[in-house]
Amino acid sequence: MVLALVVSRNRARRRIQQVQVRQTRMSETYDNHGLPRGTRIDSYVIDRTIGGGGFSIVYLAHGEDDSQVIIKEYMPRKLALRAPDGVSVLTGPESEAAESFAHGRRLFFQEASTLATIKHPNIVNVTNFFRANGTVYMVMAYEKGINLQEYIKRHGGGLSEKFIRTVFPPLLKGLKHIHSMGLLHLDIKPGNIYLRTGGNPLLLDFGAVHVMQQSRKYQPTQVITPGFAPYEQLNPGGYVGPWSDLYAIGASMRACIDGVTPPPADERRMRDTMKPATVLFRKNYSMALLAAIDWAMEVDALLRPQTVDQLVEAMDKSDPPEEPTTRESLLDLLTRDITLPWSNKG
Ligand SMILES: Nc1ncnc2c1ncn2[C@@H]1O[C@H](COP(=O)(O)OP(=O)(O)O)[C@@H](O)[C@H]1O
Ligand SMILES: [Mg+2]
Repeated sequence: MVLALVVSRNRARRRIQQVQVRQTRMSETYDNHGLPRGTRIDSYVIDRTIGGGGFSIVYLAHGEDDSQVIIKEYMPRKLALRAPDGVSVLTGPESEAAESFAHGRRLFFQEASTLATIKHPNIVNVTNFFRANGTVYMVMAYEKGINLQEYIKRHGGGLSEKFIRTVFPPLLKGLKHIHSMGLLHLDIKPGNIYLRTGGNPLLLDFGAVHVMQQSRKYQPTQVITPGFAPYEQLNPGGYVGPWSDLYAIGASMRACIDGVTPPPADERRMRDTMKPATVLFRKNYSMALLAAIDWAMEVDALLRPQTVDQLVEAMDKSDPPEEPTTRESLLDLLTRDITLPWSNKG
């Protein structure tokens, strides 16, 4: 009976994969080009395209007062295409494309309006958002700097404990603020962490931001980044919460140290080949930092820190009492006496 269920589930999964492959092939023919230089939208003029993930395009632009801004255009690659006028956005011919596009556009708009109300020194500042060209645009203040992914790539990992302790605590303050508003980021990774030239890092790209109450529902616009997303985000019924963002924070800190993307959480759940940071990197980093990283990266959500404060506290521990000899005893040490404020919610 159980076996039959597993077999049919696998079959269903294969079918979904086949459909996804077909859709990808079809959508490869879509013309999703970015808006050309000089295009006017609302009171802004596009300067150039600087990036774009699976469902949006990011532009450098300027406003009427010549101030530089970043504009993000909702443009899901698999659902939408640029109209022949070179500016408007149309949906693809697949039967569900229009509906999915409209649903995602609604979420993008909601997210922009929520973000516009958040003012925090470590959260990207959304200054405006509007509908135009059949889609939605989000305007942010332009910040000079470099994203952490680029920075890690340049240095090949090996970033110092001092670096990690300069960048992550402020980010965790921003994250705590978001969580206190009942929101989750759900796409934290080095590419979405921005190192401003003047210091004070920023959390970017709230493309997947969730309202916690809706968190049990599967969100079709959700982006998953293997290696940084926890297991509960890889399966549609997964129970996401603050602990999910903390996994991604742990994985991002680990990437600063070893310069590579950690193995995907579903692989780790099947067979965890990832050695604890406390074992691999103890030569150059404090036990408190490494143990905090390992704790945040527990595959099982219940074994992780449940709140930002718990992770911060673990990082700040100056002198762990005794060196744990096994993974189990480390776990025991870290999870003892911890109440789970989220466990009776949702
Ligand atoms: N406000 C900003 N100021 C400067 N650069 C930015 C800003 N927002 C985004 N960027 C740059 O654009 C990249 C992509 O932005 P992001 O919001 O992560 O969109 P996406 O990943 O969906 O393309 C970032 O990694 C960063 O390098
Ligand atoms: Mg991004």
